[in-house]
Amino acid sequence: MCQGPRLRLLFTPGEIDRAIAGLAAQIDRDYGGEQPLLVGILKGAFVFLADLMRRLSIPVEVDFVRVASYGPGMESSGQIRLVQRLSTPVRGRHVLLVEDIVDTGLSLSFLVDYLGRKRPASLRLCALLDKPERRVVPVTIHYLGLTVPDKFLVGYGLDWDERYRNLPGIYVVEGD
Ligand code: IMP
Ligand code: MG
Repeated sequence: MCQGPRLRLLFTPGEIDRAIAGLAAQIDRDYGGEQPLLVGILKGAFVFLADLMRRLSIPVEVDFVRVASYGPGMESSGQIRLVQRLSTPVRGRHVLLVEDIVDTGLSLSFLVDYLGRKRPASLRLCALLDKPERRVVPVTIHYLGLTVPDKFLVGYGLDWDERYRNLPGIYVVEGD
């Protein structure tokens, strides 16, 4: 058996699903008549994006970007770089950035700046989770699922050293 940290359940798959249904209803309403480009932030957001897009009734396109922060460890060093660029032209498009969790806000403010310079028709942010206590840079989250405490979380796309992304619920990693 693999040893690992203790995990405490924070949100069940049903609770996550209800939060996503609420977000999808708002997005459907706000983007009616448009075909927005959903931009998922790899790797963590792919699970959320996959469920969110299947809840939407409006037509959408999907693309991905990937960012990394310089330096080792769980703590963001503050220096963000783009590891994978968009493959879709963004100029004149309605772009909805889709993120798993907003922590310091550093990667999102970097991406809002990067995408904003490409002249989209609009640029909004949808995040499943928000950890407001950790914020370093302010970011406006237009569509927010659930607010969470300042704990390290895993599951539903979120990893701990690349583990646990596949868990269907969201868990707090408990210190041992
Ligand atoms: P930030 O907002 O730039 O600090 O970075 C947010 C990114 O850090 C998210 O997209 C996640 O990939 C990662 N992250 C932040 N908090 C957690 C967590 O509790 N568990 C797993 N990954 C996290
Ligand atoms: Mg992420």
